[in-house]
Amino acid sequence: MVQTLTVLGLESSCDDTAAAVVRQTEGEDAEILSSVVHGQTELHSTYGGVVPEIAARAHAEKLDICVKQALAAANLGLRDMDAIAVTAGPGLIGGVMSGVMCAKGLSAATGLPLIGVNHLAGHALTPRLTDGISFPYLILLVSGGHCQYLVAHGPEQFTRLGGTIDDAPGEAFDKTARLLGLPQPGGPSVEAEARSGDPKRFRFPRPLLDRTGCDLSFSGLKTALMRMRDQIVAEKGGLTRQDRADLCAGFQQAIVDTLAEKTRRAMDQYLVLNPSEPVIAVAGGVAANSAIRAALETVCAEKGTRFTAPPLPLCTDNAAMIAYAGLERFRAGSRDGLDLTARPRWPLDQRSPAMLGSGKKGAKA
Ligand code: KG4
Ligand code: ZN
Repeated sequence: MVQTLTVLGLESSCDDTAAAVVRQTEGEDAEILSSVVHGQTELHSTYGGVVPEIAARAHAEKLDICVKQALAAANLGLRDMDAIAVTAGPGLIGGVMSGVMCAKGLSAATGLPLIGVNHLAGHALTPRLTDGISFPYLILLVSGGHCQYLVAHGPEQFTRLGGTIDDAPGEAFDKTARLLGLPQPGGPSVEAEARSGDPKRFRFPRPLLDRTGCDLSFSGLKTALMRMRDQIVAEKGGLTRQDRADLCAGFQQAIVDTLAEKTRRAMDQYLVLNPSEPVIAVAGGVAANSAIRAALETVCAEKGTRFTAPPLPLCTDNAAMIAYAGLERFRAGSRDGLDLTARPRWPLDQRSPAMLGSGKKGAKA
């Protein structure tokens, strides 16, 4: 019998409190009935980064409001849900615990099944939610705390082809913004500045291109940027608007070029699997960057492969991706009990060895 499932999702692993309702009839496209996100940027703005304790408290205060808003926007009640999905890691542990506790309370009160979701799986399955992509596909998951190439074989089966050995690109964008006095989150501010900059004026390194495979490294870029900035300040006494724009453009171009080349290599490894309809997808907050999207699209066009990137609100953290990932797990027969625990670290590919520094921040994905 064709089954329609409606799942409530909760997300609180970093600095966005979110709830969403997603519905899918077997064999059909999934539908986002509502998606509510309460960001915490203002709460953390004076600290230059996310403060875990402040984040956890804000999640605890906002989660039930988000749930009420998501149900109201979907015009449904808890009785209309088939399951409750919640991010159970990886992330800032206080925030993840707030979400897991809230979901357990709802599950205990209603008797609805509880599904713990890996936040990274939420991002990695987003192309199925938005475009109905079939397995296996190649996904570049690129965010504030993670950067990895994965082949998605199933809702819980991922093979990591490579990833960052130190910083994630979002972290590098955020640090660059901090070094140049631009607002957080750094990605959108650096991208906006880069639009009026000359990417060729400063020569940034293209790390690890001399090494085979598709591992990445981004920590050297911020050091290079800091040196360039200090040199201009020493010579001219300060940065002009144009200096700042040129630094942003050069920095962004280095990330774009590196991701484009490593994506070519990851694609070669993926295409060996002979997928019937090869697809390359990108997901995570940094996937919102239009220069990166354009470069990846070009790489896919070179190889004649389909490219997909989620709409911007589904690149950054949201609960629709968690509801959907939970729905896939639930349909496959997975359930969790009230002993579900919050996990600060939780690699998607459990068989590959941990990367040097991967998930260093752990919190973001
Ligand atoms: O996935 P996400 O919302 O949170 C986690 O990291 O889980 O990603 C946030 C990251 C931040 O580092 C932010 O600076 C970056 O994504 N980001 C961008 C852009 N929009 C957000 N990076 C580059 N360009 C953007 N347009
Ligand atoms: Zn994320």
